[in-house]
Amino acid sequence: PIYSRITGTGSALPERILTNADLEKLVETSDEWIRTRTGIRQRHVAAEGETTGDLATLAAQRALEAAGVKASEIDLIVLGTTTPDIIFPSTACLVQHRLGANGCAAFDVNAACSGFMYALGVADKFIKSGQSKKVLVIGAETLTRMVDWTERETCVLFGDGAGAVVLEASGEPGIYATCLHADGGHKELLYNPVGVSAGFTDEPNHGVRIRMAGREVFKVAVKTLDSLVDETLQAAGMQESDIDWLIPHQANLRIIEATAKRLKMSMDRVVVTVDKHANTSSGSVPLALDFAVRSGKVQRGQNLLLEAFGGGFTWASALLRY
Ligand code: ACO
Repeated sequence: PIYSRITGTGSALPERILTNADLEKLVETSDEWIRTRTGIRQRHVAAEGETTGDLATLAAQRALEAAGVKASEIDLIVLGTTTPDIIFPSTACLVQHRLGANGCAAFDVNAACSGFMYALGVADKFIKSGQSKKVLVIGAETLTRMVDWTERETCVLFGDGAGAVVLEASGEPGIYATCLHADGGHKELLYNPVGVSAGFTDEPNHGVRIRMAGREVFKVAVKTLDSLVDETLQAAGMQESDIDWLIPHQANLRIIEATAKRLKMSMDRVVVTVDKHANTSSGSVPLALDFAVRSGKVQRGQNLLLEAFGGGFTWASALLRY
């Protein structure tokens, strides 16, 4: 059988850091509230003019270097984002040209916070079908661009960043299973109301902002992720004890702890970056993966469970041997 294997990882973060103490000056909040409810201590925020494509390009270059693959060898780019630089061309096309990978297929996937996991699932299928041999999978966001900095319920939660992996066809595992789901019936719990054909208003930012019912999202996320990890283990023919590392979407430490508990995993086998990066949406899982690889936590041959949950709702996972 043909498997797809991760042969290199990379990530990129804006230089500017906004701490919880900085946010105390912007809204009625406290470091203590943010830390105990979410686990977040700081987030990186894109500078003026710094785009999703900038972060994606840097993350991709680092992943290519780690894999020892030239941009010209890439035959597909799939980029998960909900904050594209412009409406079109897709950010995948903008990044392709900057990398010098012109000619290969390139497209964006919008699945909110599950964007990277969706992109990975799609890329895996392209490789397993024989269509592609070397694929760049990117998750990149500048979510702070759609944050209302006067709304404490949401502005404390998000940050900017990108991560990327090079995925290559291989006779060795590889990705064992990916699971992708959506339920469009919960739009009003988590969304950004503005688009091309609906929603323009005279509000600040032309109404471009995140709308969220946090407590409801929290409950659905925990429940959904529980059944997602069950499904993924079953699809891969594995059990909890086969997993070496859980690399979850970094939205909230309490959601992460609930998933770890369901998997009977102690927190020292869970990769946590939410304290430093906050919720970077599609950037979160590949950022966490790259940090775990570069810090020496994740080793070749280990089994990793990656998962995410986000607006849509969407939820998706992958179980793979690194
Ligand atoms: N600082 C201080 N107080 C705040 C803040 C803040 N930044 N934000 C809200 N509060 C207040 C609320 O107004 C509320 O006050 P009240 O009791 O007087 O009405 C109080 O804190 C408690 O609010 P809760 O909603 O009960 O707090 P909760 O424990 O649910 O935590 C949170 C809120 C962090 C948003 C949580 O529900 C959560 O993380 N939900 C998941 C949402 C999420 O992760 N969204 C990201 C996108 S989807 C994804 O990636 C999973």
